[in-house]
Amino acid sequence: MKVDLYEKIWIGLAAMMIAGFLAAIVYGAAAHAVHPPSHIETIDPLRVKTDSEFAEPGVREEGDGVTVVMVAELYRFLPEVVRVPAGRPVRFRLTSPDVLHGFQVVGTNANTMAIPGYVSEFTITFPEPGEHLIVCNEYCGLAHHQMQGRLIVEAAR
Ligand code: CUA
Repeated sequence: MKVDLYEKIWIGLAAMMIAGFLAAIVYGAAAHAVHPPSHIETIDPLRVKTDSEFAEPGVREEGDGVTVVMVAELYRFLPEVVRVPAGRPVRFRLTSPDVLHGFQVVGTNANTMAIPGYVSEFTITFPEPGEHLIVCNEYCGLAHHQMQGRLIVEAAR
């Protein structure tokens, strides 16, 4: 008889937890407008390579830092080698013209997704000079494992 009572208590607790998780999802979507990472900036994926800032990806000086405009596509990053200064803010702007890709600078906190139709943006400062691998960490197709780039953090001049 006692076992039966404990079963009912645990079923009740589990049901309450599920209700709590569902409520958190609904609240997040309704009150905080759950959306892809970064801000909401849309872009026509068909125009990424021809008619946007991403048509000429690269590193641009901007204010006291630099902006890195990058394309993640099947199966490479453009540019494949990125040189940024150490100790200055680096703003990354990324998008994809085809499918979902990941963007992770190994050994750092730089990590986001490149989502067709959206621009992902984040700013980070690399304190030390060095060389990092950039990998795609979202499965995007047969050559996903070969999709990689290099980030070279150069000593400030
Ligand atoms: Cu791109 Cu995996």
